[in-house]
Amino acid sequence: MENLELIKLAINAREMAYAPYSGFKVGAALLAKSGKVYLGCNIENASYTPTNCAERTAFFKAVSEGEHEFEKIAIVGGMGDNLSDSCPPCGVCRQVIAEFCDGDFVIVLGTEEKVLEYKFSEILPLAFTPKSLN
Ligand code: THU
Repeated sequence: MENLELIKLAINAREMAYAPYSGFKVGAALLAKSGKVYLGCNIENASYTPTNCAERTAFFKAVSEGEHEFEKIAIVGGMGDNLSDSCPPCGVCRQVIAEFCDGDFVIVLGTEEKVLEYKFSEILPLAFTPKSLN
């Protein structure tokens, strides 16, 4: 699947964001190696800390349906109706990604106008992964 297509799916997923406290809405579209795409949005909470990011929503949906192998994820975010030029994943989401993906996993950021592509190893070098426990 093309990066632009995945970005468009993330933009649609962002419509479902539940972000009444920050107003910052995030959408994610996660492509599994099976070919299935799992969508996610951020889900905030009045108690703040239980907030779940869009990326983790997508990963947890996928893993809960038996997926363990992934190709790439597109992430978009922005305040209210505005889309930021880039919405990089937070540290907690990077750690969740590290549980299931190696350095070749692709992170797609940006907008429909400007699509950016990173290797996961570029944005989380020296990751602590399941292999670290061996
Ligand atoms: N957020 C995400 O969904 N993903 C990220 O990687 C960064 C932050 C959400 C969490 C919170 O609902 C809002 O954006 C502001 O931090």
